[in-house]
Amino acid sequence: MAASAVQISSTNPADPADVVGTFTPSGGIDVDRAVTAAAAAAPVWASAPGQARADALNRIAGRIEARADELAALVCREVGKPIVEARGEVARTAAIVRYHAQAALDPDGETYPPADGRSLLMSRRRPRGVVGLITPWNFPLAIPAWKLAPALAHGNVCVWKASPLSPACAEALMGCLEAELPADVVQLVQGGVDAGVALAGHAGLGAVSFTGSAAAGASVARQAVERGIAAQCEMGGQNASIVLADADVGRAAAVIARAAMGYAGQKCTATSRVIAERSVAAQVRDALVAEIEGLVVENPADPACEVGPLISAEARAAAVAAVERGVQGGARLLTGGSSRDGGGHYLAPALVDVSDPGAELAQEEVFAPVAAVIEARDAAHAVELTNGVRYGLSTSIFTRDLDRVLDLAGRLDTGLVRVNQPTSGVDLHAPFGGEKASGLGPREQGKAARELYTSLRTILVSPAVVE
Ligand code: UN1
Repeated sequence: MAASAVQISSTNPADPADVVGTFTPSGGIDVDRAVTAAAAAAPVWASAPGQARADALNRIAGRIEARADELAALVCREVGKPIVEARGEVARTAAIVRYHAQAALDPDGETYPPADGRSLLMSRRRPRGVVGLITPWNFPLAIPAWKLAPALAHGNVCVWKASPLSPACAEALMGCLEAELPADVVQLVQGGVDAGVALAGHAGLGAVSFTGSAAAGASVARQAVERGIAAQCEMGGQNASIVLADADVGRAAAVIARAAMGYAGQKCTATSRVIAERSVAAQVRDALVAEIEGLVVENPADPACEVGPLISAEARAAAVAAVERGVQGGARLLTGGSSRDGGGHYLAPALVDVSDPGAELAQEEVFAPVAAVIEARDAAHAVELTNGVRYGLSTSIFTRDLDRVLDLAGRLDTGLVRVNQPTSGVDLHAPFGGEKASGLGPREQGKAARELYTSLRTILVSPAVVE
């Protein structure tokens, strides 16, 4: 029996009367049972042939593909993701699982020339054992997949705590996993902060991977350090799009408007600041306002929708309050910022002009369709402004001068730098992660994923006893 009998429901952000999923939040006892059950399954999974693990992952990807329409509709309904993006997330989830399947057959170590010239000196990668995975609601399938798939490919067993805002998506993905994996290899626990804290602090874990807020990530990392286990925390962003004077301003504005406001700004990689070189700042403001006012704010089930509702009434109220505080503090509202009637948690995408780079809207993550325009004297000042926040996830630079790009990119302290591209969007086969308060521990995705999900053992074998 679960530790708590209280039922929690998730509701459709576009129609809060529509109950999508229901679950009983797990407590410490449930988490403990899950870790114990997973640990019992660990030796068999870790010693399964790599090909068997790869095959299982490929079959899971096939199940996700076979259920693509249903899963996309569920993502759209439970978290308000525009249906076209939701379909993209499902396809990406299957691709992520297939990509990591191959890791089960990759080289798992290296040999080195031994000091004595005749021994065998080698390193071997080993699974961490039980890994704890804590995931957010905004990519309710893709983020779990980019943790679960490499963890499983490398022979780990998983206890996965999904977000209380996307329990039905978690159940659906779990269905695809369970159908193809030996019993207990993946355990799903549903719940909020209590379940997350119980999992991150559990003595049975060999590693923990977290995606969510900076405050929760810091607490997960502290617990991991105290227990001496590997941790990876992907947290917020306050991402800048820099528009240099030589950029194609019209095209840049079209890309930036969508990077800032698409999916109602609810991506850690969303653009929150537009840093424009002074000589084009007025042009950038005007072009952005026109683009933003042209975005389709609609029910996310409508294929034309670009900006759907925020995840909850609280999230919308917090965003409205942040914009109001900004305006009271001297920011100039260029467009949007008001709640839209019609049942769902809609907010008209807001653009503000900010002259003080220390202002809250230029420093903190709102996680909503809200962005600030800031003027920079020149490119060097744009870099200084970009780096002048506690976060360091993604930056985009818009310019036609590719000679300057490498120099500027080298001076930015964000984990991702994208040129003439949105700050959002991730290539599943390349490393992903942030600096400063945006990321702790090894990178996710691509081959980099193995750094968290394996440990290295160095082995020295001599043909005879060495005295
Ligand atoms: C993307 O930009 O497509 O939580 C992915 C997030 C990020 C993923 C962003 N970890 O929003």
